[in-house]
Amino acid sequence: MSVISRNERAAAAAGTGRDIVAFAVRAPSIHNTQPWLWRVDGTRLELYADRRRQLPVADPEGRHLAISCGAALQHAVVRARALGQTCEVTQLPSPRDPDHLATVHLYPGRPDQDARAECELLARRRTDRRRFTAWPLPEDRLDELTSSVEVPGTTALTLREAARRVRVGLLVSRALLAESSDPRYGAEQARWTEPTVDGGVPETHRPTPHPRLGVSSRYDDPAAESLERDAVQGTDGLIVITTEQDGPRDWLRTGVLLCRLWTGAMSAGLSVVPLSQVVEVAETRSALAEELSPAGVAAAGHPQLLLRLGWQEISRNPLPPTGRRGVDEVLLP
Ligand SMILES: Cc1cc2nc3c(=O)[nH]c(=O)nc-3n(C[C@H](O)[C@H](O)[C@H](O)COP(=O)(O)O)c2cc1C
Repeated sequence: MSVISRNERAAAAAGTGRDIVAFAVRAPSIHNTQPWLWRVDGTRLELYADRRRQLPVADPEGRHLAISCGAALQHAVVRARALGQTCEVTQLPSPRDPDHLATVHLYPGRPDQDARAECELLARRRTDRRRFTAWPLPEDRLDELTSSVEVPGTTALTLREAARRVRVGLLVSRALLAESSDPRYGAEQARWTEPTVDGGVPETHRPTPHPRLGVSSRYDDPAAESLERDAVQGTDGLIVITTEQDGPRDWLRTGVLLCRLWTGAMSAGLSVVPLSQVVEVAETRSALAEELSPAGVAAAGHPQLLLRLGWQEISRNPLPPTGRRGVDEVLLP
């Protein structure tokens, strides 16, 4: 009798684990690479980096891979809490295996209503690259957003001052130009923008070309002249996520913060688009760090990801979800 109930408990735990992983794969990831693998072991979920899906040219250190995995980790935790599990997360639990990024221990608890609401937002979340409306974003909206979420070791900085915003926009343009003149980068990007059912950025989700300038983002072939004016719009809200240190643990935390900011922004009716190029190129990354350090943005630390925020037109159709690998493809035996 006790053996049956133990088996039942094991089956229930496996079902819960699978459900959590099925939700975690909906996380945003660089180029929709989905660079994660999971192992469900009873009431323990293990998250691993899938190095086969790392971008060796744009992301040789694995920074954006780990940020993407941090986003998946946050999805898993929120889903688990919504299902009535209490979670204890250990990041980088195995010194001998740096690809083992986190373990989530599940304990029985009660379904958390806030987590349920957050799951609903995460399920609707999309990277919507359609042009934002020109309605200016009140600064206090961004401040409310950045001060409402706290993840240890990370900071979300609102870029307010007009001159600083222009300079950061130019850094983004410089990064785009640097990448577009590197054929290795182009080849890598092409791989992830080919139409596939379960990965990459589909054509439907790439930005519509600017009516006057013709291009608008990394997913088009950028023309030098247009980029300067186009990478970041004057009315965009801009947030930079920075961290105190600059290692895998900080990158994971950035992914956690990214998701928390994203759902916060959605609750305020805002759309979010991450911009990673300025951090991918070493020269613009250090220029961005310098830009953030002068008085006014104290103790800025290491920039990890820039976010553009703005309003989508109310009448716009919601975007369909982008493809994902199936649960069986990301589950380790
Ligand atoms: C670390 C990271 C970096 C990203 N960088 C960019 C970017 O530079 N430009 C962009 O348009 N989208 C960027 N994205 C968004 C992904 O392309 C997007 O999450 C992915 O295509 C899946 O689509 P979805 O977010 O709509 O589910 C990034 C996402 C993450 C997690």
